[in-house]
Amino acid sequence: MKGLLLAGGYGTRLRPLTFTGNKHMIPVANRPILLYGLEHLRAAGIRRVAIVLGPMHEGIQEAVGDGHHLGLEVTYVHQGAPKGLAHAVACAREFLDGEPFVMYLGDNLLQEGVRPFVATYEASRPDAVIGVTPVSEPRHYGVVELDGDRIVSLEEKPARPKSNLALVGVYLFTSAVFEIIDRLKPSARGELEITEAISGLLKEGHRVVVQRVSGWWKDTGLPADLIEANERVLSSLGPKDLTAEGEVRPGAKVRGLVGVGRGTVVEDGAEIDGPAILGEGVRVGPGTRIGPGTSIGAGGILLGCSIRRSILLDRVRVEGPVRLSDSILGRDVTVRSIRPSETEAQIIVGDSARILV
Ligand code: DAU
Repeated sequence: MKGLLLAGGYGTRLRPLTFTGNKHMIPVANRPILLYGLEHLRAAGIRRVAIVLGPMHEGIQEAVGDGHHLGLEVTYVHQGAPKGLAHAVACAREFLDGEPFVMYLGDNLLQEGVRPFVATYEASRPDAVIGVTPVSEPRHYGVVELDGDRIVSLEEKPARPKSNLALVGVYLFTSAVFEIIDRLKPSARGELEITEAISGLLKEGHRVVVQRVSGWWKDTGLPADLIEANERVLSSLGPKDLTAEGEVRPGAKVRGLVGVGRGTVVEDGAEIDGPAILGEGVRVGPGTRIGPGTSIGAGGILLGCSIRRSILLDRVRVEGPVRLSDSILGRDVTVRSIRPSETEAQIIVGDSARILV
């Protein structure tokens, strides 16, 4: 069994935020999203993984390399233009070399990982295993209509969804999928759709098994999803997952589970409520309050502000009595406030912005 992690695509919905580098490198609990997918593949016993890269792929090869530090053998496939998920699979044909494979969309987070997909495949050797879960807005996803366990229809982002079951971003295929992909035509949005490839498998009499995903699942395409994913991942961490290498001064209050990176100082008069994580070399000054669901990247400087349920990338400076929640601040952002505010602000901004509130 091989693994295919998709990290091509522009991430159109996050693009306006102009984060430097690839969207799959945006941190969740201070680690790039795509590392979670790689770890899930590894935990399912998969060693050989190809990462599909698109036109914007800064940072990925630097972070993952040949994958040996993750217990993987990682190679890279260049997709060029992101012409759809089925196109990405076609680009990896040589690497996959006729073996069954798990395809993992690099911007997805799945609590239970990919092991159940592999177990389902091993149990009855179908030609595909797809994952579904109920969602409130199915029209944003691939939608599966079922009659018991039988698939009645599959549609990509339908205007009138026939069910509330979304396709999650993990799939398992045998090489039978290539016969179908070879004959696919671009969809109305100009992409070779994996959803159509699955329909094609069914039409040609191949067996596709549906895996119901029971744990939480997040497609992190939108900022609100990223913030929620960050909160969920932080809540799932245990003391073993967090470092306590920094310094918490005696006059600071730290409650709940909080990771404090090397070189970080939580100064007297600062308060932190976990789950939260502070990267390396962060300064949390007096009067600063950090609330649950917050990740602070390396080199952050927080002085007299209040921040909860937010993601701060590296080297962010927030100064003054501003109160932030549900925010994402890109690398090297500065937020300065000069007057206390009664209400919480939400700021979602890409790298290097300067904001005065
Ligand atoms: O997240 C689940 C959904 O993912 C499914 O319900 C849909 O059926 C499926 O089409 C997909 O929809 P998205 O609109 O979320 O796909 P997106 O374009 O965001 O791409 C998903 C991932 O695949 C993302 O990590 C980028 C990567 N990608 C995307 C394209 C279009 C590639 O590597 N190459 C591509 O050509």
